[in-house]
Amino acid sequence: MNALEKIKKIKVVPVIVINDENNAEKLAASLINGGLPVAEVPFRTPAAENAIKRMKAYSPDILVGAGTVVNAEQAERAIAAGADFIVSPGLSESVADYCRQKNVPYIPGCVTPYEIMKAIDCGAKVIKFFPAGAFGGLKTIKSLAAPFGSVEFMPTGGVNEDNLSEYLSFDKIATCGGSWMAESKLIDNGKFDEIESKCRAAAEIAAKVRA
Ligand code: 3PG
Repeated sequence: MNALEKIKKIKVVPVIVINDENNAEKLAASLINGGLPVAEVPFRTPAAENAIKRMKAYSPDILVGAGTVVNAEQAERAIAAGADFIVSPGLSESVADYCRQKNVPYIPGCVTPYEIMKAIDCGAKVIKFFPAGAFGGLKTIKSLAAPFGSVEFMPTGGVNEDNLSEYLSFDKIATCGGSWMAESKLIDNGKFDEIESKCRAAAEIAAKVRA
């Protein structure tokens, strides 16, 4: 099973901004124990690169992607650290090229038909629809999905426990991303039990919508 198939099976991807790489192992454990063995770690903090490395070293069972990757140099660092997939807030052709060379799935951010067509040209199979809430949420995704049958969507930005099941009820949603399960303040304050229970709650919602 490749990374995209695994993401699709897990159905929810916690987006986790990590400030201290020393939290990587406890965080990985709480995701695994909470039933969501996956993370998108944004390349927005200096700790991101080593945190990815340490989460992957902690367990081969956890899928770790790098988020907020805006250029090929970051993609190179993320993949060298062990990232299983690469996510951007928009579409970068240079990141797409690099990921293709390395055979690592790339999930570019797109919110318009033009961007989705460029993403298809780049070989993308899953599109990050970001920021989902601000761009019309599921209504917009349904409109975009009609002409673009070859891609699936990962809405992120404004997805939460209250609207997760609604998003997942649409079969063109590959998975949903969001920060609500593992916010930085929970990590920084060592609230790993809380992260685990939020992950479990999200996993239970997802399991109800899609067995
Ligand atoms: C991201 O980086 O993908 C978003 O900031 C996550 O959005 P959310 O905080 O609304 O879940």
